[in-house]
Amino acid sequence: MKPKIVVFTGAGVSAESGLKTFRDMGGLWHEHRLEDVASPEGWRRDPATVLRFYNERRLGVLAASPNAAHAAIARLEDKFEVTIVTQNIDDLHERAGSTRVLHVHGEILKARSSADESRIYPMRGPLIELGDLCELGSQLRPDVVWFGENVRFLREAAQHFAEADKVLAIGTSLTVWPAAGLVDYAPAAAERVFVSPDLQDVPDDYRFLRGTAVETVPGLVEQWLAQA
Ligand code: OAD
Repeated sequence: MKPKIVVFTGAGVSAESGLKTFRDMGGLWHEHRLEDVASPEGWRRDPATVLRFYNERRLGVLAASPNAAHAAIARLEDKFEVTIVTQNIDDLHERAGSTRVLHVHGEILKARSSADESRIYPMRGPLIELGDLCELGSQLRPDVVWFGENVRFLREAAQHFAEADKVLAIGTSLTVWPAAGLVDYAPAAAERVFVSPDLQDVPDDYRFLRGTAVETVPGLVEQWLAQA
């Protein structure tokens, strides 16, 4: 049996792939207030703007490539049973080769019915336009979790944390709940590491590794692989 690692990621792990984080931008995300483009209210008020906003983000994701941190995380599977719990809506972990990724905030490369959240579709092209409908006849929207909506895989993710031998948390401000609370499910015996370039509140019992994901994660992974 391989030891278990949970890798918990936020926007910071994709920053060095050129995708902007949320809270490093002074309250605005690509010139929009988060609540205007990432909430059911914003969608009801102005679906065209919300679709355009996510279409631009999706084109950015498609143009981006996984960085050395994503690649290192994928290498952990050589010697560990790895579950990635990510708040990110991009697919950079998958493209780097990771095989088990739980997207607790959904995935921008999928569309879903705005009438029924269980109707999820692969994208036919990079854009969702007004008038693109699900088979129920309701408008398609990005399959991402907005404020006030249900976070995905929460119980399953908590279980993985609770069974982990090691937890590596990278690039998250831990400001958005309930996802942020997952870090506390790690058992006392687990080795816990928190990576960020900024001094910030580090969760209890996590070792703080200061630096960017690309600066710090490959070295830590090599060390863990060598010790395993
Ligand atoms: P944030 O933008 O809140 O936080 C990004 C974190 O990454 C900060 O702590 C930065 O210090 C850190 N960071 C920046 N550059 C980094 C780098 N190169 N390497 C490592 N860390 C770096 O992003 P999240 O915590 O992911 O939710 O945000 C959580 C949620 O808020 C998102 O999933 C999204 C957003 O609203 C929804 O859309 C529901």
